[in-house]
Amino acid sequence: MQVHVAFTPDGAGAAPTGVVIDVIRATTTTCQALASGYERVFCTTEVEEARALREELGEGVLGGERNAVRIPGFHLGNSPREYLEPAGKTLILSTTNGTRAVVSAAQRCERVLIASLLNLAAVVEASYVAEEDVIVVCAGVQGTLALDDAYVAGRIVELLGWERTDAAEAAARLTSTWSGAEEAFRASKSGRNLLENAPELEEDIAFCARESVLDVVPRLVALRDGAAEIAL
Ligand code: MLT
Repeated sequence: MQVHVAFTPDGAGAAPTGVVIDVIRATTTTCQALASGYERVFCTTEVEEARALREELGEGVLGGERNAVRIPGFHLGNSPREYLEPAGKTLILSTTNGTRAVVSAAQRCERVLIASLLNLAAVVEASYVAEEDVIVVCAGVQGTLALDDAYVAGRIVELLGWERTDAAEAAARLTSTWSGAEEAFRASKSGRNLLENAPELEEDIAFCARESVLDVVPRLVALRDGAAEIAL
């Protein structure tokens, strides 16, 4: 089996299994919300799309950010620490890069798994058992490589132990240069954006840097009106 890493969503071709990462913070939030008891998370690209989906469903907690800050009129932001208790059955999430990466992977891959550091071991185990080539899709920041996602991609590559493309090898080597996740996250564009725009959420970085503390593997269930429905 082979593992490949796309450092940006546009760099991802079609693959049987896509493992999507936006560790700061959209996929961490998705994993935490489902582990806490939300039944499904809809990843949407545009704010208006999220609002329209809520109208259509007749329910749902609106969550997400632009420039790291809660979207006006939304119930919650994108801090995973806001999702430690469910505020409803359905979360409708819209973020700058992460939810777009999930939707983009859903359009290209037969199966999509949602990864963060929180559920690292569970996602690696699920990929291993599936015995299909994997493409790890990093959300990045506005179409460019982000060190936080690349760090997690490298951890997945290391743990899978499969044949690596050059991009997968690059991710693993990059990961080995950091003393740990938090150092990589603080140095990354995503981490710096968060600290600049929402310094009161600094604790999110350490929260997102914890490895294998949730035994959940969120998966794509369906695409609905352009939104990716994710559940356990
Ligand atoms: C994103 O989708 O770009 C991130 O979730 C940004 C953030 O957490 O503020």
